[in-house]
Amino acid sequence: MKPRIVFFDTKPYDREYFNRANRDYDYSLSFVRDRLTHDTVSLTRDADAVCAFINDAIDAHNIEALYENDIKLIALRSAGYNNVDLKALQEKIPVVRVPAYSPRAVAEHAVALMLTLNRKTHRAYYRVRDNNFSIDGLMGFDLHGKTAGVVGTGKIGLAAIDILRGFGMRVLAYDVYENHEAAVEKGYEYVSIDTLLADSDIITLHCPLTPDNVHMINRDTIGKMKDGVMIINTGRGRLIDTRALIDGIKQRKIGSAGLDVYEEETEYFFEDFSSETITDDVLARLTTFPNVLVTSHQGFFTREAMTNIAHTTLENIRLFFEENTLRNQVCYHCG
Ligand code: NAI
Repeated sequence: MKPRIVFFDTKPYDREYFNRANRDYDYSLSFVRDRLTHDTVSLTRDADAVCAFINDAIDAHNIEALYENDIKLIALRSAGYNNVDLKALQEKIPVVRVPAYSPRAVAEHAVALMLTLNRKTHRAYYRVRDNNFSIDGLMGFDLHGKTAGVVGTGKIGLAAIDILRGFGMRVLAYDVYENHEAAVEKGYEYVSIDTLLADSDIITLHCPLTPDNVHMINRDTIGKMKDGVMIINTGRGRLIDTRALIDGIKQRKIGSAGLDVYEEETEYFFEDFSSETITDDVLARLTTFPNVLVTSHQGFFTREAMTNIAHTTLENIRLFFEENTLRNQVCYHCG
């Protein structure tokens, strides 16, 4: 029998891309709008597999409930899996993910944030629409010849380095595992995190969130940066202590910040709150700065990436159910 898959936290674009990819598989897909929570986990009762996204809670309670409901596979339609309680998972239910769907999509979005903040096109757009053709206050700097610091030289970090090198920037990198071959090929240099912080005009985060690097950007590390530094985060929100970032901006230590992720994003990102009150004062403060650009975790959001996500997820599911093969499995022993 074809596997029945229940998808949580779905939006119209998920349904569109998964239904299209499913023409090659003909599985039974059911799409739930709500996130996977302790209240919605019961919706998995008649399913064989669950497809979850980054804000779905794959915590101890839900893992136990999914196990009791005889869910055989959890297929994440994301690369990151910091929402999975690896310890609670033990070896109860295998979890697969989409390790790479379009690293260039995220890298290009990181660079879009850099260019916007530097040349202030977000402000120019509104000025001109208001017939204000003054360019006062819109001055940027040439990227050519400046130094970019890339934290995490995996798939996305390397894609970002390609673009930044194309601008003629000097690129410094920090990673817990250094890829010397790539450094030679692409023309960047590994340095200590302190050197990267001290020497970079732009710092961009492309590492995963792990227990060791929560708030790696904090008061202490901000203190080590150049005055007027630009910070870009398309990694995970909790890499940055947002209150320290706000203080750094207020003190003019930080020149600008582009954030596609935010540490408390779960409640707001991907949803429309335009008719409601934002009760998160930290997020509300962030959005008041002209030199801060917040986007709602859209780095991955390109046609190419969505097509790859849908195909890889359904192929992960097919391999498991039809060929008894686990591809792209999340490591149980990493947490
Ligand atoms: P990857 O696994 O290819 O590369 C991650 C790199 O970070 C590895 O080289 C690893 O050694 C390094 N790393 C791990 N811990 C580190 C630390 N403490 N300090 C410095 N480097 C460290 O992952 P990929 O595909 O490049 O993705 C990176 C991150 O981007 C993901 O973990 C995810 O959190 C985020 N992401 C964001 C998206 C968005 O839409 N904004 C979409 C996809 C991923």
